[in-house]
Amino acid sequence: MPYSDNSGAPLRLGVLGCADVALRRVLPAVRRTEAVRLTAIASRSPERAAAATARFGGRPVTGYAELLRQPDVDAVYVPLPSGLHARWIWQALSHGKHVLAEKPLTTSAAETRELLEVARRGDLVLRENYMFPQHAQHAFVRTLLADGTIGELRTLSSTFTVPPRPAGDFRHRTELGGGSLLDNGGYPVHVARLFLGDDLEVAGAVLRRPQGCEVDVAGSALLCRPADGATAQAVFGMDHFYRADYHLLGSAGSIEVPHAFAPTEHHAAVVRVRRHGHAEEFTLPPDDQYAKSLARFAAAVARGGSGADDAGTAAQAALVDEVRRCALR
Ligand SMILES: NC(=O)c1ccc[n+]([C@@H]2O[C@H](COP(=O)([O-])OP(=O)(O)OC[C@H]3O[C@@H](n4cnc5c(N)ncnc54)[C@H](OP(=O)(O)O)[C@@H]3O)[C@@H](O)[C@H]2O)c1
Repeated sequence: MPYSDNSGAPLRLGVLGCADVALRRVLPAVRRTEAVRLTAIASRSPERAAAATARFGGRPVTGYAELLRQPDVDAVYVPLPSGLHARWIWQALSHGKHVLAEKPLTTSAAETRELLEVARRGDLVLRENYMFPQHAQHAFVRTLLADGTIGELRTLSSTFTVPPRPAGDFRHRTELGGGSLLDNGGYPVHVARLFLGDDLEVAGAVLRRPQGCEVDVAGSALLCRPADGATAQAVFGMDHFYRADYHLLGSAGSIEVPHAFAPTEHHAAVVRVRRHGHAEEFTLPPDDQYAKSLARFAAAVARGGSGADDAGTAAQAALVDEVRRCALR
């Protein structure tokens, strides 16, 4: 195995592409994560690689293939346009690198399954970088549920909508993995899996693709757990007012998480609970889902395998595929 952590040495990370999410969220978090050390940043442009390393450290590298040849890189972070993930994940695994890839891991369940299998066979960790589940606010909600605060969970709804992206953004292009289902839709689908488990079916789905648009810009899906009829409504879009929340509705109350997906490490999260004649608001200490996700990835590499996460990643991709199939039926 290319990296073993018996000594507790930090995981040596290389980055493929000077993406917005890398510069704004993940590279700052690398600095806050002892278990990870930045070794190199690759870009198609030498100037962008140099500018990024001037800010965050590491060595600038021109070209992604060149970064994969660097012997002091144990693992790579892949924040490329979603439609390019599969190709570069495959290349990285072929070079014996562990991979932390941005969500969605790929643009289809079949590709996701195949790459997870390639990683497993190579004894490498491949992880999809949904960071929000690491935030302590969701564990807090789980505790409320386990304590029976809202009775039995009957239904949930979750929304992730964002304002329109600029014209050149990859999200407008099919071949780069654009569209709101792939970009935003995975979040509410993930919330449904988080609270209702992986035994979910798609009861109905709609994707909106305005005339002249290559990709869907909005959609909605109704998911159902056949065993007890619990449901989840997932709403997503990239032509909207910003919303990133979820509501759980139980037999005896409801829970609202208004800032569910991208709280900064300074944000004091709020969780609202309502029961008959009673409303309560909890303010939680800030939490760093970005650094925690990196540390979790490094720990998986040190342990030697993604384990249970692989099944979740495959289930997520299968459900997103099913939403698309159902909407296009
Ligand atoms: N987990 C999260 O919270 C989160 C948040 C936002 C986005 N994301 C995911 O992260 C990924 C990147 O999103 P982003 O908004 O950061 O993207 P972005 O700013 O457009 O960056 C993508 C990078 O990919 C490289 N690239 C290579 N070929 C490209 C091409 N043909 N067109 C455009 N860029 C190309 C570019 O880097 P160089 O020019 O330097 O090579 C570019 O900077 C997506 O998969 C997205 O879904 C995750």
